[in-house]
Amino acid sequence: MDNNNISIPVLAAPLQGVTDNVWRMAQHSVFGGVDAYYAPFMRVEHGEIRRKDLRDVEPERNAGTTLIPQILACAPEHALMMVTALQQMGYSRIDINLGCPFPPIALHRKGSGMLAYPDLVEKLFGALATVTTVQYSVKMRIGWDKSDQWRDILPLMDIIKPVHIAIHPRTGKQQYKGELDIEQFEALLASSPWPVVYNGSLRTVQDIELTVQRYPTLAAVMVGSGLAADPGMLAPEAISGDYRRFHDLLVEGYNDQLNGGEAQLVRHLQDIWQTFLPGIDRKLFKAIRKSHTLDQYLNAASAALSSVE
Ligand SMILES: Cc1cc2nc3c(=O)[nH]c(=O)nc-3n(C[C@H](O)[C@H](O)[C@H](O)COP(=O)(O)O)c2cc1C
Repeated sequence: MDNNNISIPVLAAPLQGVTDNVWRMAQHSVFGGVDAYYAPFMRVEHGEIRRKDLRDVEPERNAGTTLIPQILACAPEHALMMVTALQQMGYSRIDINLGCPFPPIALHRKGSGMLAYPDLVEKLFGALATVTTVQYSVKMRIGWDKSDQWRDILPLMDIIKPVHIAIHPRTGKQQYKGELDIEQFEALLASSPWPVVYNGSLRTVQDIELTVQRYPTLAAVMVGSGLAADPGMLAPEAISGDYRRFHDLLVEGYNDQLNGGEAQLVRHLQDIWQTFLPGIDRKLFKAIRKSHTLDQYLNAASAALSSVE
C-alpha cells in the first residue's frame, strides 16, 4: 500500500473514540497510505473484557487492513484474559499500552501510570511472555512523572522481546500538553536495543520525512491526531470529493453499528468534528454542533465538506 514516498512504515496511532473500525475502514478505502492500524486499547471491566472493545477488533469488521489490537492492564490475569481472547480471534501481534495519561487510568497504575512502577511492569511482562505464540510491541511515554523513567523500563523489554517500542516523548503527567522532550527521545533511541517508532505531532508528509531524515535508525513513525484531522494526509493528492466519501462511509458505518436511535447517531457524528478538518470556518462548525436531527446534521456537514472541495 505504498502510495507515498516515505521510506519507512507509517502506523496509524490508536485514538480512543476516534479511530474505531468504522473510521479505519473509511480511511483505508478512501485514502490509504497506512501500513498498519493500532486499535484503541481494550480493557477488562468488572472481570470481563468490554464487549465494545472486542467488537471493534473482530476480523470481519476490519477486512483488508493490517490491524494490531492493543491491551491496557496492570493485573497480569487481565492481560492474559485479553491475549487469550485475541488469539482466539486469530491475532498473533498485540500492542501493550504503557502510555495512556488519562488520570482515572494512570492513577490506577495502568497505561503511563505503570512507568513509575517497574516492578509491576516486570510482573506484567513476565505473564505475557508465557504466551510464546504472540509477538508484542509496546506503546509508551518517556515516563509517568519524570522524563527519564524509561531508563528503568527499557531493560525489562528483554522479557517480552518486543517487535518495536513506540515512543511519545512526553511524560504521562504532561498529558497532551507542553513540549515534546526530544532530548529524552534521542537518549532512548540511542540506548534501545529494540526497534524504535517515533510518535508525536506529525501532521504532514513533510513532518514525517524530516523525522525520518533526522533519525535514520527509526523502525517506523506513528501518526495520531494529524491523521484524524486530515485522513488524507498520506495520500499523494486528495481528490475533490474524497472527504465527502470518507464522511459518507462514517455516516453509513455508525448508522449500522450504533443502535441508540437518531439522537445518538447525531451526537456521535458531531463528535467527529472535534478532530476532523479542524481548519473549517467556525460558523460551519457551529451549525454542525447545533443540529438536532439527522437531516439538519447532514446539511450542516455537507456545507462544511463543500468548503474543502
Ligand atoms: C482522544 C485520544 C485518544 C487516545 N487513545 C489512545 C489509545 O487508545 N491508545 C494509545 O496507545 N494511545 C492513545 N492516544 C494517544 C495517541 O495514540 C498518540 O500517542 C498521541 O495523540 C500523540 O500522537 P499525535 O501527536 O500524532 O497525535 C490517544 C490520544 C487522544 C488525543
